[in-house]
Amino acid sequence: MLFHVNYDIAGTSVIAPQDSTRWRKYAGRDVIPLWVADMDFPTAPAVVEALQQRVAEGLFGYGHPWPSLIESVVAHCAHEYQWAIDPDWLVWLPGLVPGLHLACRSVGQPGDGVFTATPIYPPFLSVPADSGRRLLSMPLIQDEMDGMSGWAWDFAATDALMKAARLFLLCHPHNPVGRAWREDELWQLAALAEKHDLVVCSDEIHCDLTLTGRHRPFATLSPEIAARTITLMAPSKTFNIAGLGCSFAIIPNAELRRNFRAAAHGIVPHVNVLGLAACEAAYRHGAAWRATLLDTLRSNAARVEQVINGLPGLSMTRVEATFLAWIDCREMGIERPAAFFEQAGVGLSDGIDFGPGREYARFIRLNFGTKRTLLDAALARMVEACTTN
Ligand SMILES: Cc1ncc(COP(=O)(O)O)c(C=O)c1O
Repeated sequence: MLFHVNYDIAGTSVIAPQDSTRWRKYAGRDVIPLWVADMDFPTAPAVVEALQQRVAEGLFGYGHPWPSLIESVVAHCAHEYQWAIDPDWLVWLPGLVPGLHLACRSVGQPGDGVFTATPIYPPFLSVPADSGRRLLSMPLIQDEMDGMSGWAWDFAATDALMKAARLFLLCHPHNPVGRAWREDELWQLAALAEKHDLVVCSDEIHCDLTLTGRHRPFATLSPEIAARTITLMAPSKTFNIAGLGCSFAIIPNAELRRNFRAAAHGIVPHVNVLGLAACEAAYRHGAAWRATLLDTLRSNAARVEQVINGLPGLSMTRVEATFLAWIDCREMGIERPAAFFEQAGVGLSDGIDFGPGREYARFIRLNFGTKRTLLDAALARMVEACTTN
């Protein structure tokens, strides 16, 4: 059985799993795929070893989280975020997106408003309506931060729109703009959530991919904030194991947790046993691998920023977290930059999917979680396309 496909691209031979969504999209075409958010780096050796041992057992019945796995999550939160979580607060999930759905379905009533800020990871825009709720979205603004432009909250507009909401879907760190929200920003959001009595669902899937500073979980601001917060986390993005489908919600408030579990009942499957095994190994033994990964991502982010900000008509702000760059092409004078760069041999995410209407049609998102040779080849293609057109 063949599990891998050899892609010959930009003079580089790349071996990717045959089931890779990202690579399959452009199979047989000379397009470097820097769209969907997974990376080209094999996961930590300790994770592979744990999976090999688990597979060798040959038994794959229904799984149930076990004490040392739960302890690894508790220890991870304590060590990384000084957050003492009670094992009872954990609800295991096969993905973060199901967690967004469950938050929408378990808070308030059909027709209630769900607030979020754009541009945003596309499911944040579709999940409220899919769950019988009403989306209330507001654009982030570009502001001066530390001498350069950065994406920020319009707190007055947030205040006004939150009035009509019951739930706040927060993306922290934020995909696609790459902001790791500062503590003062989190406090302002928390004050507004309290003022309008909102439940907050804080998607922190990228929390372990903070490239500058430290991540502060929203729920750790205060016990009162913890009591109104559903935190979603996973080892999936950090350790490149999204295909194993293992994540969890942390819900200190017993009533919110009960309603969340009730919404999942009979619909959301158990987490698969390989995902659980990978999770424990990642949190227990992945620290050194993650540190090396973060160095690579910091270096790639700097390279992308240098090239993009050197091109006429393109600009981006600093990536503080994630392996994604949100690129503003509005000055380029091209209607659909994603199609333009695809034509030039680079497959990016189309900004149009990250907000209402056509608001972000002239933005693109570039995934730099790849080998430097491939990233450099993609950037060279973008430079060539911009300078010859
Ligand atoms: C902010 C955010 N939430 C959730 C997800 C997807 O989570 P899952 O694959 O676990 O459903 C992604 C994937 O890119 C993401 O960026």
